[in-house]
This record gives sequence, structure tokens and C-alpha cells, in this order.
Amino acid sequence: MRALIAGNWKMHGLAASRCEVAALADKMKASAPADCDVLICPPATLVAAFAKDFSGAAIQFGGQDCHAVPSGAHTGDISAEMFADAGAAFVIVGHSERRADHGESDAEVRLKAEAVLRAGLTPIICVGESEAERKAGTALDVVGAQLERSLPETSADFVIAYEPVWAIGTGLTPTLADIAEMHGFIRSNTRKDVRILYGGSVKPGNATEILAIDNVNGALVGGASLKADDFYPIVMAGGKQ
Ligand code: PGA
Repeated sequence: MRALIAGNWKMHGLAASRCEVAALADKMKASAPADCDVLICPPATLVAAFAKDFSGAAIQFGGQDCHAVPSGAHTGDISAEMFADAGAAFVIVGHSERRADHGESDAEVRLKAEAVLRAGLTPIICVGESEAERKAGTALDVVGAQLERSLPETSADFVIAYEPVWAIGTGLTPTLADIAEMHGFIRSNTRKDVRILYGGSVKPGNATEILAIDNVNGALVGGASLKADDFYPIVMAGGKQ
């Protein structure tokens, strides 16, 4: 299976951040990972410009969230069709920051995932337990319920990202055994050809060991995706699966 190394820039990045994409493209021109897709999800304002400027590079671009309907009276929202029109290939849905900041439910996440597929793009559907749920020993149950309620019923391509909420932006990661257990569990609940990414404090220093775990088919990277110098080694680790 081809790995997917995806960068989630969150609410970081201005037009000048183009230089980081250019630096990554240059590094990848010199040496690119084999069997690995590389994706950057910048703020929505930058997707169209990046997709146009880097159309010749082996980097794809995506959105971080979308509305479930194609168009309408929804001030400030962006549809999956608009991301497709801007040149995006993927859209992240159900990130824990969207679930927490905007109260998004699993049902809403599923509608958004279906919208991404409707637009001809690939959804990256995020799931993950909180620290309290991990400590209470209910992580598998929580993630199992999220999968049951937020995955679209489709034979089309989609991606699952397992991101323990307590590992995001904290520098903490689960043990390799805990990642292996969760990814094995997710695999047993989904198709064999669905890529399952790990996300949460992936850095150049831990990417190789995390990406070597069974059923870890790539990474969703936040902070370490903002600088080409940090993201490139993670991209290269993705090619070594
Ligand atoms: P982080 O974020 O790599 O900064 O922990 C991951 C994410 O939220 O996708």
C-alpha cells in the first residue's frame, strides 16, 4: 500500500509560506520517497495558489474541513466542490479541533466525508480518544463508536486518521504497542485497502519507528509540517515503510 504523509497546517500560513512548499518541492526533486503520497493541507486561502504554483511537483494539496452541501446560504463555509475547483485532492474531516471548537458530531463528520466523495476528492476522517478515555481504558470502544458513526458506507477511497486527542500538539505519543493495538483494531473494522494514518506529535525523531508499525500507512502531521526542514525527513520516512 502506498503511504500517505499529510501535513495539516491548521490556522498557520500566509502567502509568504509558499517558500516552505517550494523548499519541500526542491528537496523532493533531489530525492523523493518511493511509494509515498505527499499532501499539504494549508489554510483554505492558500489551496488554489499552491495547487497552481506546484502543479508539477509531487505534492498534493487539501482542505482542513468542508461544509456538507455543495453551495447555499452558509456564510463563511467552504464546500467540498469549492476545494475540488481550487485543485485540492483531499479534505480532512472530523479533526478533534473541529469536534471540540465547533461541536461537530460523528453524524456531521459522516455527512462531510460523503460530501468530499461526492466532489470527487478523498476524505481523511479523523478519530481518537481523549486523555480521560485512554486512562479509563475505553480508547478502543470510543474509537470503535466513532468509526461506526462517522465512516461513509462506500467502496470509494477514503483515509482514516487515528489521532489521540491528548497527543496532538503536546509532544506526547502513545507507546508503539498502543499504536499497534489501535491500528490493528481499526483495520479489523474497515477494508484492507483503506489507509490508516497515525497523527499526534509526529516528528522527524519518531516518524521512522511509528511508520514501521503494522497497519500504520502514513502520518497526519501538524506542527512538524510547517517547516520543510522538519516535514521532509518525515516524508522520507514514509517512503521506507
Ligand atoms: P501535531 O498535530 O502533529 O502538531 O501534534 C497533529 C494534528 O492535529 O493533525
